Amino acid sequence: MMGGTRPDKYKKLVVKGKRIDGRKLDEMRPVIIKAGVLDQADGSAYIEVGSTKILAGVFGPKVLHPKRLLDEDKAVLDVSYAMLPFSTSERARPGPSRRSKEISKVAKNALEPSIFLEEAPQVMISLQLDVISADAGTRAAAITAGSVALADAGIPMKGLVSACAAGKIDGNIALDLCGPEDNFGEADMPVAMLSSNNEITLLQFDGDMTKDEVSKSLELVRKGNEYLWSKQEEALRGKYKEVD
Ligand code: CDP
Repeated sequence: MMGGTRPDKYKKLVVKGKRIDGRKLDEMRPVIIKAGVLDQADGSAYIEVGSTKILAGVFGPKVLHPKRLLDEDKAVLDVSYAMLPFSTSERARPGPSRRSKEISKVAKNALEPSIFLEEAPQVMISLQLDVISADAGTRAAAITAGSVALADAGIPMKGLVSACAAGKIDGNIALDLCGPEDNFGEADMPVAMLSSNNEITLLQFDGDMTKDEVSKSLELVRKGNEYLWSKQEEALRGKYKEVD
């Protein structure tokens, strides 16, 4: 949510090109990605982007009942995003909210183009995205972790999908807004991209930017996503090495 009333400590979000957490404008928060972190899930991944932390787990592909939920022609991807009660300063109420339903839907749309769904008709792939700790950018990090979990489950994929946001803080275009920047900044634009062809599979926009600022933001998220693809691959290669 953009444009909240600022407490004194966030009076300025950018001072001499440096942000409140010391980052440069084009710098992402530290990223950690791990693949295959759960024994019982068919695929799993864990991501940290700064203090945003998410666990992604895959169940399937499986033939599920009732069969009316399945598709004759392709696999069905079911995505469920949730914020755990302790993930925010004010307890997140358990159960689906309007926001969590919207994020589940956009995450599904962002990830579907990466999967060869037609190769496995009449099965369901369930992907659960649980936010353990939220400090902005949870939908982007959930998509990034979700894609690694799908790859870890051995699902045939065209490439990896990652996501990050660019936004506007005190008139500056910046990569990967943290919580206070998201709360008190002017705009936030999360973008998901597919590694195999650079296709944009999600673009959302909250706030106010000029056309030039949108172009600059797109440039930043492109670089951010290139970095995330390398971290996703590294995580999957790390897991593979352990199995060897
Ligand atoms: O997390 P994301 O940036 O994708 O979505 P948002 O709806 O723009 O939320 C931004 C941030 O607000 C979240 O990452 C949380 O840090 C915070 N938030 C919260 O504390 N409680 C909520 N119920 C929703 C959001």
